[in-house]
Amino acid sequence: MVHDNYNSRIPGFYNLPLNERRVKLLQFGQLSEQDLVALTGESGLDADQADHMIENVIGLHTLPLGLALNFVINERQVLVPMAIEEPSVVAGASFMAKLARAGGGFSAEADPPEMIGQLQILDVPDLDAAEDALYAEKEHLLSEAAKVDPLLQELGGGPRDIEVRKFSQSAVGSFLVLHLIYDVRDAMGANAVNTAAERLAPLVESITGGEVHLRILSNLADRRLARARCMVPLSELAFKDYSGNEVLQGVIAAWAFAAADPYRAATHNKGIMNGVDAVVIATGNDWRAIEAGAHAYAARDGRYTSLSTWGKDDQGNLVGSLEMPLAVGIVGGATRVHPGARAALKLMRVHTAAELAEIIVSVGLAQNLAALRALATEGIQRGHMSLHARQVAIAAGARDEQINRLAQQLVAEGTVRIDRAERILDQWNQPEEN
Ligand code: MEV
Repeated sequence: MVHDNYNSRIPGFYNLPLNERRVKLLQFGQLSEQDLVALTGESGLDADQADHMIENVIGLHTLPLGLALNFVINERQVLVPMAIEEPSVVAGASFMAKLARAGGGFSAEADPPEMIGQLQILDVPDLDAAEDALYAEKEHLLSEAAKVDPLLQELGGGPRDIEVRKFSQSAVGSFLVLHLIYDVRDAMGANAVNTAAERLAPLVESITGGEVHLRILSNLADRRLARARCMVPLSELAFKDYSGNEVLQGVIAAWAFAAADPYRAATHNKGIMNGVDAVVIATGNDWRAIEAGAHAYAARDGRYTSLSTWGKDDQGNLVGSLEMPLAVGIVGGATRVHPGARAALKLMRVHTAAELAEIIVSVGLAQNLAALRALATEGIQRGHMSLHARQVAIAAGARDEQINRLAQQLVAEGTVRIDRAERILDQWNQPEEN
């Protein structure tokens, strides 16, 4: 069904009262009222559902859910829900998506959903012979692993390949590692891969003569990469007193810093993960797995570096790209159980895990540009402080119209601190003396 109304460009959304923003979402025809409640209401997940998800449940922990606008990814409009506590992130992503939109939006792709299961094999009498034997038994190993999940097999997934890696010198001497490459289709895949790895252990022991120790997936999902690219026309980069060329050169120099220096790369990549994690969380995915994979991938050449690249095309426009592992699913786990996560996928019109990965990597790239553009020009504190000041005002006890008024005063004074906010509030709340 085609939803003609669906458009990620919603001028004035920022200034609408919260309830009207929700009404706007309904007008796109993607969500039912029930979905909307699941996505935005306090009952997105109830305590009884949560009680079945983890242990010792005592309640729920909630985060703000914002909507990133302006995204066009592979020529499709996408409204992106982001769960995050940090101010400026949603605004930054939306604004950079608007700049990229002027250059045709993001183009993104995702590799086949192949995960790696690892089996550590200790006490192998002869590493080389065991390696050869494992490769010779490859088909046997794959057919054994395939028995674990017939449904996944029916859907076109299942074991694809093996790899053997030798570690001749480690803290416990030599050992072998068998990688089982497993296509998990639209799942994140941890359960399927871990079950298959455990299932293979006895067979692997009989083939190698060793003893299988760990059997667990690797979060360095480097066969399941997602990539996004965007072009921002030079004309879109100019703002205030900064020319387009100054911003372009500034962004490229900022990226070069991260490419050269791990201390900077960690912060640069953290900025990317601001966007990535917010969508990963909104869709009920495992953000620790994504974080682990991202940072391990950033260090794949032995030196930790930037996950993104920024440069200039032949026409002098800014071009950026981001590549990172993105093991996200749309079936299984919390993505299935959490009503808010399901509604988030619906809102994005996502039908495969690959589509979700394409959106997430595009948001990461937009978020990176938001940070670099700000850092390379007026610094991030200016934009950040006015939003931060609102949080400080709320924390100090301001309510309703006092929040904006107090935030504005804190910013104007250049002292966005809770002690100052409390003092101002005290003054305001003093009973007037006659
Ligand atoms: C803050 O959450 C993220 C930044 O530090 C990212 C960066 O420095 O590139 C602004």
